[in-house]
Amino acid sequence: MPIKFPFTKSKKESIQPTLGLDYKQIPKHVAIIMDGNGRWAKNRGMPRIAGHKEGMSVVKKIVRYASDLGVSVLTLYAFSTENWKRPKNEVDFLMKLPVDFLSTYLPELIEKNVRVQTIGETSILPAHTQKAISEAVERTSNNTGLILNFALNYGSRYEMVDAVKEIAGKVKEGKLLPEDINEEMFTSHLYTSGLLEPDLLIRTSGEQRLSNFLLWQLAYAEFWFTEVYWPDFDEALFEKALYDYQNRKRRYGGI
Ligand code: IPE
Ligand code: IPE
Ligand code: MG
Repeated sequence: MPIKFPFTKSKKESIQPTLGLDYKQIPKHVAIIMDGNGRWAKNRGMPRIAGHKEGMSVVKKIVRYASDLGVSVLTLYAFSTENWKRPKNEVDFLMKLPVDFLSTYLPELIEKNVRVQTIGETSILPAHTQKAISEAVERTSNNTGLILNFALNYGSRYEMVDAVKEIAGKVKEGKLLPEDINEEMFTSHLYTSGLLEPDLLIRTSGEQRLSNFLLWQLAYAEFWFTEVYWPDFDEALFEKALYDYQNRKRRYGGI
């Protein structure tokens, strides 16, 4: 994949990578738990939703940067199956974000050859949310650059139970033998089927937990945490995460 220099932030500004990244060793799949929007807003005396709005502009920045660096898949945790517990006004706002995000940003995603996908149970999302997403998925379906994968109404345990149900159904119908069940075929029944496993997991806001995100798929990912809240995350921190990743030794159980 060709690497473009300098990495363009916008037509006017350019971002100069400073850490000495190895551009041949960019992680193929980066997953991010974008956390801390609420606390960011609270610290400024603003409502939580202001943090979500600010967080959306960070998504744009990081997508541009990841695309310019030649990342293949960027999976962003946008809404978990547990996030329905939040106050209705916050959930409503979060469900409108994809509409706002894509209405202003879809042309740039198309221009950048980005392909939008989702993981999660999107079929129960509000109609306007589903419409915005399916339009983006459809209009970018032939793009061959970065896969921008939004985890929306995503829960890893639900995903795995769903996969088990599907496999059990096939066994019941006699289409599959129990002895044919293996890791590879289980993996192929997950939402992430066809995607490479994440190499790097980033979580912002100081929390160091998975919160039901990609439990199976992250088995051998490198984890990188920062205290910074998601609305303050930027290209330099993303670069730092990649740099640290490149300086780790992945052993996969070997020596
Ligand atoms: C992450 O920020 C965004 C979503 C979960 C949708 P939070 O809203 O969880 O922010 P904090 O963790 O409460 O600060
Ligand atoms: C995880 O963050 C979900 C998303 C970022 C979408 P949460 O803020 O919901 O996680 P917990 O509740 O702190 O574990
Ligand atoms: Mg949170």
